[in-house]
Amino acid sequence: MRASEALDVAAVRARFPALARPLAYLDGPGGSQVPEDVIEAIGACLRDANSNLDGAFATSTAATAIVARAREAAARFTGSAPEEIAFGPNMTTLNFLLAHAVARTLAPGEEIVVTDLDHDANVSPWLIVAADHDLVVRHAPIRTEDGTLDEDALEGLLGPRTRVVAFTLASNALGSIPDAARIAAAAHAAGALAWADGVHLAPHRPLRRAELGLDVLLCSPYKFFGPHAGVAAIRRELAETLPADRVRPASEDPPGHRFETGTQSHEALAGTTAAIAYMAGVGYDAIEAHETALAGRFLDGLARVPRVELYGIRGVEGRTPTFCLNVGGLDPRHVTTELAAAGIQAWDGDYYAPGPMRALGLHDRGAVRIGLLHYNTDAEVDRVLSALEAVARAA
Ligand SMILES: Cc1ncc(COP(=O)(O)O)c(C=O)c1O
Repeated sequence: MRASEALDVAAVRARFPALARPLAYLDGPGGSQVPEDVIEAIGACLRDANSNLDGAFATSTAATAIVARAREAAARFTGSAPEEIAFGPNMTTLNFLLAHAVARTLAPGEEIVVTDLDHDANVSPWLIVAADHDLVVRHAPIRTEDGTLDEDALEGLLGPRTRVVAFTLASNALGSIPDAARIAAAAHAAGALAWADGVHLAPHRPLRRAELGLDVLLCSPYKFFGPHAGVAAIRRELAETLPADRVRPASEDPPGHRFETGTQSHEALAGTTAAIAYMAGVGYDAIEAHETALAGRFLDGLARVPRVELYGIRGVEGRTPTFCLNVGGLDPRHVTTELAAAGIQAWDGDYYAPGPMRALGLHDRGAVRIGLLHYNTDAEVDRVLSALEAVARAA
């Protein structure tokens, strides 16, 4: 199937001003472009509702409504209730804050399980709170042959002292999608919280916090066609009971709100609502079908390119269209510089995911990452394959 049969990609692209430029944006896992609706919502907020909340006057009423709408939208998007949503500047900051809160409820010697598949934003907060509170951190490995999380090994780390199992819903380095329902069930069977990083999965698949049994789920709107912001969905009972650092006059209601310190970026919340509406309009079925076709085209083409090695899952199943590559043994920065000269935007490095990179022996130089989103095209896939081939041949 050609990717264009699954989605009217020309109509999608027409909504993104940035995509009119003659660049191939294959840097999606680092951050996506935004549709005009999102830009307009941010501008409208700053133009018409630039005020703090809960005042008696018009702009304040409008700002208060913007935040309430964002909370409802984020709840729908994460499979949660509005009162379970906390906003923040980004996922990492929210996760540090929430990890500190949980750690204050734990006793020395209690255990946290993290994974070698995760972005460091769901590892370092746990290492730091463990050092502060004398907790033990256990690391679940990946299977290096295909870059997937070893769920059996993870389950083997769980025991009566496990309190948190922190894991990713998809790897931003390799694209692998672990079995979240299985991990959440195992965490709960051990009496632990299931704590998921949904940042990389969000532009590709629906986030289903309640359905998967996740206690905490975090994501970042700038990865799913919105502005820079962070969203945490926290199971209500947990949000009500975790200790939260608050200034005394701040409301404790709704419970998720307890973790919002100070004034949020209202304009980013307006943009987040617009990004979620955009996603709902396109629909995850169309997104998944289009991305799977793009991924198949990329993988088929890659198999014919000499001297390029793929790390991770070889097929289209169980993954996002995020590909980690060794190109001709070249320095990854050289490769992405050559791609940039050909108008192709792609990342190199460790993508702040030292776990999988170390496991694959890539921690010194990193690798090249080609990250596709639903606004990418068959032509862009062909273009990057040709460019990779040219760079590898010149090596
Ligand atoms: C999988 C994953 N988790 C967490 C983060 C951190 O998100 P933020 O930049 O919102 O702190 C990123 C950012 O690249 C990511 O890809």
